[in-house]
Amino acid sequence: MPALVLLGAQWGDEGKGKATDLLGGSVDYVVRYQGGNNAGHTVVVGDQKYALHLLPSGILSPGCIPVIGNGVVIDPAVLLSELSGLNERGIDTSKLLISGNAHLITPYHQTIDKVTERFLGKRKIGTTGRGIGPAYADKINRVGIRVQDLFDESILRQKVDAALADKNQVLVKLFNRRAISADQVVEEYLGYAEQIKDYVADTTLLLNQALEQDKVVLLEGGQGTLLDVDHGTYPFVTSSNPTAGGACTGSGIGPTKITRVIGILKAYTTRVGAGPFPTELLDEDGEALRRIGGERGVTTGRDRRCGWFDAVIARYATRVNGLTDFFLTKLDVLTGWEQIPVCVAYEIDGERVEELPYSQTDFHHAKPVYEYLPGWSEDISKAQTFADLPKNAQAYVKALEEMSGAPISAIGVGPGRTETIEINSFL
Ligand code: IMP
Repeated sequence: MPALVLLGAQWGDEGKGKATDLLGGSVDYVVRYQGGNNAGHTVVVGDQKYALHLLPSGILSPGCIPVIGNGVVIDPAVLLSELSGLNERGIDTSKLLISGNAHLITPYHQTIDKVTERFLGKRKIGTTGRGIGPAYADKINRVGIRVQDLFDESILRQKVDAALADKNQVLVKLFNRRAISADQVVEEYLGYAEQIKDYVADTTLLLNQALEQDKVVLLEGGQGTLLDVDHGTYPFVTSSNPTAGGACTGSGIGPTKITRVIGILKAYTTRVGAGPFPTELLDEDGEALRRIGGERGVTTGRDRRCGWFDAVIARYATRVNGLTDFFLTKLDVLTGWEQIPVCVAYEIDGERVEELPYSQTDFHHAKPVYEYLPGWSEDISKAQTFADLPKNAQAYVKALEEMSGAPISAIGVGPGRTETIEINSFL
């Protein structure tokens, strides 16, 4: 009855899609447990490239049942357009299951996300503008709309009316925007009900039954550890829990059922949006990482901020997630540097600090302390085993493993499905 968690160990975009897809062939269920269409997975299958935002990447593996768990926030228009996009390319999406308890993103959440960011000016978070934060805020405030509400018109109407009563005041009086019509929202959302009804299920029950039948369930996080609303670089975070605990609450699977927690770790670091980033490079090395690594957001098309590997962050991810393994991605991007700096600690106000400081102010002041590891120039994209890697690449991986506190069980050496070195099996 193995339940595995796969999550981002940094600020997201570590290449989770490739890892989930790699495992997808051997797992029975792939579950998204938090976030929404703020995420972006690129999965390359043969010569086909798929960009997924909301759907679990397991949707591309025949034989695997993709699940959108209760912890996710769903924009139904995006859901339906992703589904029809895949159908047009011949992908069967009929097995998808959607939790009736998942919350819905509505047009008013998107409007509020955008106007709030504009209002914050220089203090903005740099959100994806998809309404994620406001939808989670409504969930916590107990005025959210859930998938199951779509199937009871009078409840849906009452809830939308209640949610808009104060929001329209704020939109009109504070933000100088037009009020949003509750009738229009209800009409639009009732239209989605018929189209998604066949997917909706008691996913918690089904997943626990599957585990009892020894099925393999993979819980897939969106974003990353440092974007977690509790454990990330608050307030520059997303509004949910990508960390391992979120996999339990966002799916209804208890912690005792989880056997492996795999952290996806990029061989360097990237971040999108605002917030502190100690190893960020604003020079030609940063530009080169962005270019070679194709570091442009799948969701928003924004350039990602790039920097060297930060072992302090990796250690922190091991700690707050209880990681059992790492999947190191994009090692090939580092090919060609004579030496590669790796941040092993921070200097904060003149003192060397080995662990991520809990204080936001300290983290803003953290300066990276680098060790310089010898680079390699050989093409590593054809490497199939660890021994195929050049000695310096092997030493780089081993050094990262030692600093990060969990074994590196797989290494990505190129974007394609087969361009992965498996060291230990995840199953
Ligand atoms: P939100 O999730 O749209 O509210 O955005 C909050 C922060 O999380 C912003 O800095 C976003 O750029 C960041 N973010 C959200 N989703 C992702 C992701 O999938 N990868 C990387 N950053 C993300």
